[in-house]
Amino acid sequence: MDVKALVAQMTLEEKAGLCSGLDFWHTKSVERLGVPPVMVSDGPHGLRKQDEKVDHLGVNESIKAVCMPAACATAASFDRALIEKMGQAIGDSCQHEKLGVVLGPAVNIKRSPLCGRNFEYFSEDPYLAGEMSAAYIGGVQSKNVGTSIKHFAANNQEHRRMSSSSNADERTLREIYFPAFEISVRKSQPWTVMCSYNRINGTYASENPWLLTDVLRKEWGFEGYVMSDWGAVSDRVAGVAAGLDLEMPGSGGINDRKIVAAVKAGELDEKVVDLACERILKINYRYLENARPETPWDQEADHQLSAAIAGECMVLLKNEGMLPLNRADKVAFIGEFAAKPRFQGGGSSHINCFKTTSALEAAGEQGLDVTYAQGYSAEKDEATDGMIAEAVAAATAAKVAVVFAGLPDSYESEGYDRAHMAMPACQNRLIEAVAEANPNTVVVLHNGSPVEMPWLGKVRAVLEAYLGGQAVGIATVRVLCGDVNPSGHLAETFPVKLSDNPSYLYYGGEGDEADYREGVFVGYRYYDKKEMEVLFPFGHGLSYTTFACSDLRLSGSKITDQETLTATVTVTNTGARAGKAVVQLYVGDKESTVLRPVRELKGFEKVALQPGESRDVTFTLDKRSFAYWNTQIHDWHVETGVFTVEVGLSSRDLQAAAEVTVESTVELPRHYTADSIFMDVMADPKAVKALGPMLESIRRVFAPNADASDAAQEAISADMGLAMMRYMPLRGLVSFSPDKVTDETLDRLLEALNG
Ligand code: BGC
Repeated sequence: MDVKALVAQMTLEEKAGLCSGLDFWHTKSVERLGVPPVMVSDGPHGLRKQDEKVDHLGVNESIKAVCMPAACATAASFDRALIEKMGQAIGDSCQHEKLGVVLGPAVNIKRSPLCGRNFEYFSEDPYLAGEMSAAYIGGVQSKNVGTSIKHFAANNQEHRRMSSSSNADERTLREIYFPAFEISVRKSQPWTVMCSYNRINGTYASENPWLLTDVLRKEWGFEGYVMSDWGAVSDRVAGVAAGLDLEMPGSGGINDRKIVAAVKAGELDEKVVDLACERILKINYRYLENARPETPWDQEADHQLSAAIAGECMVLLKNEGMLPLNRADKVAFIGEFAAKPRFQGGGSSHINCFKTTSALEAAGEQGLDVTYAQGYSAEKDEATDGMIAEAVAAATAAKVAVVFAGLPDSYESEGYDRAHMAMPACQNRLIEAVAEANPNTVVVLHNGSPVEMPWLGKVRAVLEAYLGGQAVGIATVRVLCGDVNPSGHLAETFPVKLSDNPSYLYYGGEGDEADYREGVFVGYRYYDKKEMEVLFPFGHGLSYTTFACSDLRLSGSKITDQETLTATVTVTNTGARAGKAVVQLYVGDKESTVLRPVRELKGFEKVALQPGESRDVTFTLDKRSFAYWNTQIHDWHVETGVFTVEVGLSSRDLQAAAEVTVESTVELPRHYTADSIFMDVMADPKAVKALGPMLESIRRVFAPNADASDAAQEAISADMGLAMMRYMPLRGLVSFSPDKVTDETLDRLLEALNG
């Protein structure tokens, strides 16, 4: 379709109309020109398609669909191919249901364990979040259905979510909160981007030209259209000018009329409106011209796929020789989540599942000898004495007690943040009682975000099943019994307690001001720098076998920032079972003039290995792997120096390391004034040269005088002298130099330095 020609035939009113939704879920039609509406729908881990009587909170029933594991779980797979496959299945279901765009993936960074929507987001690490997101987008869009990567940007809390301002410095945004979007745009070109509700440093994302145009389009090359989150528009005209193409849902024509008025008044260039329409239509026709409503949707097959994916995501946090279970053993399943798993979160991503399979059902189907005790009521958030007594009896009568615990729906959801990081007290009490009754106690967790585990020392194994989708029960039993060897790794740190989290002091903000004062030190970037104990580190995950990483080889010991470096490591399955290792590569700048984390994830691969098998895994590192965001040149920059490359099975299980020197090819602009200090001047070889003999004369002032008395030499040692000189401004030459340095000489010197 020649969308330019189409837009050229539209009236200003039609064009303004096209820039907002028809209703909650459709773009508008232009009947006169035969332009049909296109339907979009949530997302991200399955379809929430509402046909009749739409409302966006999911109060009205949506069609029966398949709920895949939520992003908190899928990120733990560290498996790009798996996420792509999930995307393909979702893409096919969209085709079947005539949906042009699925509203996801949601890639916001987990700044605090408290964010109510953490379950929908991938990680505390921007690289991992970006890679997972790009894989998801690639999968969905391979079916000619669009995605809407959301929520752009810095939308990391639910508290005051439609008005609060995420106040973060430039470097923090670039290094932590933007890359998941950037990687996705550069790698997978999402058809649409959804801007977030919040403001960024005071300006709403929905009317932020720097965000929506300069960064997103001009820098990253985004080609699709930007839509608003539902109700995120404050000033519609400013939004159009900033690059917000589509307002969702519509405003009943009110904002459309404002666009028309602004164009007529000469306040908004009509060409900007044209461009928004062209972008929307280009995407709509990309779907319409490739629509395949005859695509079959085998929901039972997707149910099985959901189970298979969930099995690859579960993280075995602890295992003291307890798992896998012996099938012949008598096992007690305790806790309501065994019968009614919590497998998805609340809010706009909530799916009306065509069926669910609990662990209890799956155990029956898989011929396990299992007894069951409810233990607690998730809905009432209580465990009566009777429930506990029944659970203890079941635990006592069994060889192994598996407690299914975690967070009830009311503890985490879109729309509000968690108040604390604790599990329900009644569930903690239950676990303690069961562990007391039976030393062979295993805990299976269903939660979308980290929890404190006061009972950790008393149980022998913990399996983090996250919110694993509607077939989570099948996957849980497979993993418990060893039919699936767990291979998930944490995409987030589990701190010991909430107050350990770097955003703890500031999270939520004061009124509408949410200051990101911890800067780039988010998640493990903080815990590692502070050398803090954590409950479970980023990247952690056990297996029923063991792995070793050895023999890290770099393609060179010195590169420039224009060259790439390959790092190859040998990973070996050193145990007795087939399994999958998640090999992680971290880079750290050994010495830096800017504040940097100790290490940052820059590569990962999931590798399947038979017992005894070894394989080489190769990573390619480029400038970005070593760079930080430099606020002087507003660009990525590598500071010349030595970098550490570490490889291992978690951020705290690093088994091989090597060093490389990276040389910058970019000279940072320097400008010296009389207030510049000698230390900075002397770090610049060109400046040292320009200083010439003057440097010598100033050195003499601070050098110890051999003839001076002992007392004088004691008062100013050589080291002190040097330190005093390092921190002295150039203007000090006038006061301290034995040679006659005047203001005029200083000016000439500055000219030479800056020339
Ligand atoms: C959510 C989005 C969602 C949209 C449509 C908003 O409240 O923030 O993630 O896609 O509603 O349901």
